[in-house]
Amino acid sequence: MNRTQLLRLGSIVGAFLVGLWLPFRLLGFAPSATQELFSNVLIASVSFINIIHYFTEHDLNPRKFRSWLNVGVILDALCFLPLSFIAFALFDVTLGWILFLNLTTIRHINHVRAFLDGFPSLKPLTYRLAPLAVFLPLLVHLVACGWIALGSGTSGPETDHVLAYVKAVYWTFTTLTTVGYGDIAAKTIPQMIYCCCVQVAGVGVFGFILSNVAGIVARSDAAREHHMDNLDKIETFMNIHHTPSALRANVRSYYHYMWKTKKGYHDKTLLDDLPAKIQSELIMHINRPIIEKVPFLRGADQDLLSELMNELEPRIFVPGEKVFKVDEHGDSLYFIQSGSVEIVTRDGNVVATLGDGSFFGEMALVSEKPRTATVRATTFCDAYLLHRDAFDRVSTSYPEFRKHLEEVMNDRKAS
Ligand code: CMP
Repeated sequence: MNRTQLLRLGSIVGAFLVGLWLPFRLLGFAPSATQELFSNVLIASVSFINIIHYFTEHDLNPRKFRSWLNVGVILDALCFLPLSFIAFALFDVTLGWILFLNLTTIRHINHVRAFLDGFPSLKPLTYRLAPLAVFLPLLVHLVACGWIALGSGTSGPETDHVLAYVKAVYWTFTTLTTVGYGDIAAKTIPQMIYCCCVQVAGVGVFGFILSNVAGIVARSDAAREHHMDNLDKIETFMNIHHTPSALRANVRSYYHYMWKTKKGYHDKTLLDDLPAKIQSELIMHINRPIIEKVPFLRGADQDLLSELMNELEPRIFVPGEKVFKVDEHGDSLYFIQSGSVEIVTRDGNVVATLGDGSFFGEMALVSEKPRTATVRATTFCDAYLLHRDAFDRVSTSYPEFRKHLEEVMNDRKAS
């Protein structure tokens, strides 16, 4: 954490504590001299921190008077003076206007977002929840104290302070989030006016909480939402086009497979916004399973792997799909991550079935001749494709890669 972040944290924590403490003082809580001193030191520290923060952030010189011509700085400068402690020490009284002046310190709580911005690796959920967790308790506390100050909806003051506070918090919650249950109701004119104001503010607060919580809940299973969205779209599409039921079943099973294996995220365009280096590291990570599956890649040189990983293109084949046909021009090599394919000769015989970690299509690339067989998926097949130009590049840089493919090709031809 750098200096600015420390200053921000100090001012957030300080502002929060001041926001908890001062309303009690305004309600008439009589502090001891030590408590009063501590409270003044806290307010002075928060104000001082914020003055420093203001001047450093705007690169201003505190010696130049013009820099002070800012309402926030003037308020902080006034709060920095221990006015309340002086009044308390000299006259043994608490001056309400001084406390109200000091209460302005709590506006620095809004540094919480800027503070969170200093942690680039935080989860989006934390960005959403953290400000809510700071603002909401403070707001409820302030409104509850205001309600107590107005008599808590009763004609006379409560004798049990804890119960009065808990009731006021309960009233605040019900009034801010709904229009209140009516069990604690406003009786005097100021209470009624206050109640109306809290209800109006409550519309905004309720909307804020609801939208945040709804957003968090919706995003907690964003992958499923995304998948369901895709399913809805494709179902509508199939309805519009009167798709036969067998074909519908195939489409649904494809989506089901995509959900089971990739949680519905297959599209690499999601990574397009990332810088090339991070993109390549991420692709390397995503494609890692193929390295673990293909035996000869497992022991391969790290540079070869990085080059290969960046060139591989994921493909999915559905059961019965022909990857390519015999005699076609061959322009790519395939690695199977999961699933299986069968190699079918020109006369229709299945000469081999290849599964997880195998590769095929090397003969056409190495010998520069047409495909020697048809390859057909027998199950859903997750494969990675290496195009000819990438294959040529990798083979030129890493002759051992080509040598291995030639060895496998010769074994296959001999079998
Ligand atoms: P290619 O000729 O490009 O296209 C068909 C592919 O099937 C071929 O490359 C090999 O990868 C694969 N293949 C052909 N014969 C066999 C075999 N006997 N065993 C395993 N795979 C084979």
